[in-house]
Amino acid sequence: MRAENGVRLLADAIFLTVEISCKTDRITPLMTYRNIETLSWIGGCNGSLKMIDQTLLPAELKEITCKDAETVWEAVKKLRVRGAPAIGIAAAYGVCLGLQTLPDNADLPAFKARLDEVAAYLATSRPTAVNLFWAIDRMKAKAESLFESKSAAEIREALFAEARSIHEEDRQICRAIGKHGQMLIQNGSAWLTHCNAGGLATADYGTALALFFAAAESGKTIRVFADETRPLLQGARLTAWELMQRGIDVTLICDSMAALVMRQGKIDGVAVGADRIAANGDTANKIGTYGVAVLAKAHGIPFYVAAPVSTFDLTLADGSGIPIEERGADEICEGFGKRTAPDGVRVYNPAFDVTPAALITGIITERGIISPVSGKNIAAMLSPV
Ligand code: MRU
Repeated sequence: MRAENGVRLLADAIFLTVEISCKTDRITPLMTYRNIETLSWIGGCNGSLKMIDQTLLPAELKEITCKDAETVWEAVKKLRVRGAPAIGIAAAYGVCLGLQTLPDNADLPAFKARLDEVAAYLATSRPTAVNLFWAIDRMKAKAESLFESKSAAEIREALFAEARSIHEEDRQICRAIGKHGQMLIQNGSAWLTHCNAGGLATADYGTALALFFAAAESGKTIRVFADETRPLLQGARLTAWELMQRGIDVTLICDSMAALVMRQGKIDGVAVGADRIAANGDTANKIGTYGVAVLAKAHGIPFYVAAPVSTFDLTLADGSGIPIEERGADEICEGFGKRTAPDGVRVYNPAFDVTPAALITGIITERGIISPVSGKNIAAMLSPV
């Protein structure tokens, strides 16, 4: 059963803000995860940031507490928190933590200098996901709008409120993506996903995985195949775990098996997240996504990207300008404690790739679905409402 192509929904302002109970009969009693948030802020402006340490999953579900910008930076760099929207939220809170080092009576020049310093520092944590820079820029823009009229202390409070808004808005955005995207999913169909674009990668609920959660909540039976996602296994460690936590039927496969399962007719659609989408629709996402898109095209399977509007980078005409993070050789040679390659071997480890817009059936945003994917349709969907 194939999902329908070419659906385009106009922007609508209805956000689903309430938790809808799952209508599938496969809800696992192990719901621990749902009581622990991917990110949570404890206290007021002088509080701290808690986050699930995703490097420990699925063996351990543990939170760490960040009391300064340095700990947030390290958590983003080491992928304790990962996924484009989640690192944007973490960075916004990181700005708040960085400003806590200012004395209570700091004047505006000292405040501005510290804000610039913290923002520039957090921006060096990871290069590809534009949501990180989007969130930092939004925090800076908020501060700048208040420099004329407010004291440093008041601006600090306003920035804390802004970080809270970024966090809360992401919850609503994910629900809206799920609401739009689930219409593409037919009852009884099977979908493939790559990496983790779920609640762990966002405030809650996810982008690509939101389609599956919303479809299940609307009473549809679905099956998901999760690529394990070498080298850091976000698909195996995080997506398979998260889907099981939420009672979705999931089958884990190695990345190299995607071609076969498509050929065998087991896949009706592909849904993935995004780290940065250029003005023409070229999309950066976890390494291996491009290969999945090529395979989907070869097998006539629709390939969807699910992402918030904040993941678009309209300053880039196409995907060739997207900075691709390169990570250390150890992730490939001894990823999880066991050496699996000869000492001294040369390694190339790009963490993301770019899928050309021509391979993407549609992009699901909180405002609706962009399909066909073109610069014109993207500009129309993103134009101010
Ligand atoms: O390196 P990661 O784990 O941060 O990569 C994450 C992805 O590629 C996700 O698919 C993307 O950020 C979208 S998350 C909603």
